[in-house]
Amino acid sequence: MQKLKERILEEGVVVSNDVLKLDGLLNHQVDPELTMDMGREFAARYAEEPITKVITVESSGIPVAFATAITLGVPLLFARRKKTLIAEPDALTERVPSFTKGIVTDIMVSRQYLGEQDRVLFIDDIIANGDAARGLIKIIERSGASLAGLGIVVEKSFQAGGRTLREQGIRVESLVRIASLAGGKVTFT
Ligand code: G4P
Ligand code: NA
Ligand code: NA
Repeated sequence: MQKLKERILEEGVVVSNDVLKLDGLLNHQVDPELTMDMGREFAARYAEEPITKVITVESSGIPVAFATAITLGVPLLFARRKKTLIAEPDALTERVPSFTKGIVTDIMVSRQYLGEQDRVLFIDDIIANGDAARGLIKIIERSGASLAGLGIVVEKSFQAGGRTLREQGIRVESLVRIASLAGGKVTFT
């Protein structure tokens, strides 16, 4: 997506050799038209799949996941970050480390909304090491649903997340792939 690359070059802030701040378009402010373009692109790439549900993790994946879901005409399910110690008997939970936040969180999906009948498309904003993705994929497997693949807005190819998932035979579609952030500069693959 050329337009997305241009926006990243204009508005992205390289924070370090491995972190790119994208608050202007993904992680704080959202451009609805650009986000709809992303959703249409993911829907097109997975057009031959009988997707029943789009899934993401709150919070930054939600706008683009919504754009994909409305294009496909299916519900959007977002895994919640658990902030309570109250046991939820109907919940599938996985513990995931967070690369940027340096903390561990629990993500949760209710069995009520995900099961054997589902073929899901997993949409997310950024993939780094893939820890969050692996957590949600485990939840999808435990629910009995099948995974059509992932749709990622920004893949940082110099980190292992996308590659590791592909090596496991999981389909990963990225709108842009960043080869390097060295020298304070965004270099696409
Ligand atoms: P993963 O999804 O590949 O496992 O990423 P990881 O756990 O390593 O990163 C955790 C969080 O950090 C994710 O957001 C991810 O989108 C974000 N992140 C990783 N690298 C970058 C980066 O270079 N730039 C930005 N802006 N974010 C990055 P999250 O914890 O799910 O939070 P939220 O944004 O959804 O609220
Ligand atoms: Na994020
Ligand atoms: Na995210």
